[in-house]
Amino acid sequence: MIKKAVVASVLMMLACGSGKAQQTTVAATPPMGWNSWNHFAEKIDDATVRAQADAMVSSGMRDAGYVYINIDDTWEGTRAASGEIQTNQKFPDMKALADYVHGKGLKLGIYSSPGPKTCAGYEGSYGHEEQDAATYAKWGIDYLKYDLCSFDEIMKKAGSPEVAHKLMLEAYTKMHEAIVKTGRPMVFSLCQYGADHVWEWGASVGGNLWRTTDDISDRYDRMSVIGFQQAGLAKFAGPGHWNDPDMLEVGNGKMNVEEYRTHMALWALLAAPLLAGNDLTTMSPETIAILTNREVIAIDQDKLGKQGDRMWAQGSQEIWGRELEGGAMALAIFNRFEWPQTIEMSFVRFGLKDRVKVRDVWAGKDLGTLSGKYAAHVPGHGVVLLRVTQ
Ligand code: GAL
Repeated sequence: MIKKAVVASVLMMLACGSGKAQQTTVAATPPMGWNSWNHFAEKIDDATVRAQADAMVSSGMRDAGYVYINIDDTWEGTRAASGEIQTNQKFPDMKALADYVHGKGLKLGIYSSPGPKTCAGYEGSYGHEEQDAATYAKWGIDYLKYDLCSFDEIMKKAGSPEVAHKLMLEAYTKMHEAIVKTGRPMVFSLCQYGADHVWEWGASVGGNLWRTTDDISDRYDRMSVIGFQQAGLAKFAGPGHWNDPDMLEVGNGKMNVEEYRTHMALWALLAAPLLAGNDLTTMSPETIAILTNREVIAIDQDKLGKQGDRMWAQGSQEIWGRELEGGAMALAIFNRFEWPQTIEMSFVRFGLKDRVKVRDVWAGKDLGTLSGKYAAHVPGHGVVLLRVTQ
């Protein structure tokens, strides 16, 4: 038994190299935290980040499993004569900010681009990859989102799609290797909007997660299109490497409670990173309840790391399933219409026994042992999320 395990781990090291081993330890389950972009965009600064860290603790989000406080674009200043990247005036001392965030039992993330400029036109890492990774490590950074942005221009000049593709993979690999060289574990988040089927190669360039789509917005139509279009990507995700359908919009105000529950449930079924994108200092009780629901988070963070998938769809009705540890299963019954619908499902149809124990997760209620079928009353744009044990 022991011999087998040793052989397996040696083989794994040979196959993956030490960089990959590091990659699995930093994101064994999908990363959880907060990111500045969806709510604050360029209006982010040191004081706001500290306030978000404080609120992550006081709201109970840290205790529910959220760890990363991620600064997105617009922190970057110019480069010093040595080439070292400096922060702009909004972030007077990144090391002190990292110390503050770490002091709360949280981790700090940052953002850059493989191109010369970020998407908001700030300084990117092109030609400075090792230097930037070393600077991040010196500051105490734990997570890097690396956004393609102006690298696109370099790819356009490549002459052929094949060469452009190769350049992109090289650019991501270069930063991954630079991170590994620092010796500091950092989650490496690829952001190139799903181009060239990133799910097929994201892990091979050191990605712990990769965006599968263009940007989300705080609208049911956009969120649901992104979420439901993840069907079929499950096989590419697993411990250390996750599909990322973008950050959460829960609590940003333009969806109703049912729609935000759908958003959170769908992301949990997808084993998606849970990066809150709202202002944590002004959350309503409903927003806190959605973001900190322990049972939904447990589905997202399930140790098996098996992403769920669409199992059945008919018009606006969809049933998605996710296999969980210990033979349990999460089933999400979605209603994409605006008005309520009753959706009936038979357990055996979804590979379950005829008699199963069912819990309604959002209601926080055991429904008991049920036989044959279950008729779910699903609100408009809503979901009934079940945890089924056999
Ligand atoms: C986009 C990215 C967003 C955000 C923004 C910052 O390309 O998809 O999530 O990072 O750039 O400029």
